[in-house]
Amino acid sequence: MITLKSPHEIELMREAGKILGDLLKTIGGLIKPGITTLELDEFAEDFILSRNAKPAFKGYVSAFNKGYPATLCTSVNESVVHEIPSQRVLKDGDIISIDVGSLYNGYYGDTAYTFPVGKIDAHTQKLVQITQDALYKGINQARKGNHLSDIGHAIQTYVEKNGFAVVREFTGHGIGTQLHEEPVVLNFGSPHRGMKLESGMTIAIEPMINIGTWKVKTSSDGWKVVTRDGKLSAHFEHTIVITDSEPQILTLPSQ
Ligand code: MF3
Ligand code: CO
Ligand code: CO
Repeated sequence: MITLKSPHEIELMREAGKILGDLLKTIGGLIKPGITTLELDEFAEDFILSRNAKPAFKGYVSAFNKGYPATLCTSVNESVVHEIPSQRVLKDGDIISIDVGSLYNGYYGDTAYTFPVGKIDAHTQKLVQITQDALYKGINQARKGNHLSDIGHAIQTYVEKNGFAVVREFTGHGIGTQLHEEPVVLNFGSPHRGMKLESGMTIAIEPMINIGTWKVKTSSDGWKVVTRDGKLSAHFEHTIVITDSEPQILTLPSQ
């Protein structure tokens, strides 16, 4: 079932999202060679709790897995998603995708951003930029009267035109009183398919983009997803609301 959110519910979701926007803005200043992903996770958990929210991923149970143990997913280099924070030390030239969710006032926010560690090479920089741009191409299609698949079509077209590949196994999703609601929001596909988008729908759009093959595999810890060819992957995500006019991003910083 797809629930349309009231203006009041959207304000509550914007509050949940602002906490995450502020967190990512702050955490960007901590990402340097030498820091561990666990240190970033501890910072993020304290930050979210200090804003009277809860980390949405901690304890999250999926169809395949027991409770996720951390606040962040800290996916480095060839990790696509769901890398558990650890003693892993970030080094110059890495990229790290930080995915984070909050629960505040009964509503969820979900966002992700890929950061460079120190100095990254030009091709890696292009991957990160194209992935972020692809998210905005998708958001731009999230308009009343468009079809659901117009989002994924815009993302795929843009990414492939630039020589990169769209991960197929993981998708965006509806979001609200649950972290993952209907509908599934694909990052690829034909245009003008699926339901018509309506004002009040809240969705998380989250392209995961690879330099090489789009194929991925799950590592032995049961969580971390990596590219099959070991090449780099980037990930950006925003929670947004479809309106009568422009789509609105709910996971922006306070200012
Ligand atoms: N990456 C997922 C999303 O953005 C959520 C991760 S849940 C976790 O929708 F438990 F794996 F962390
Ligand atoms: Co996310
Ligand atoms: Co998500």
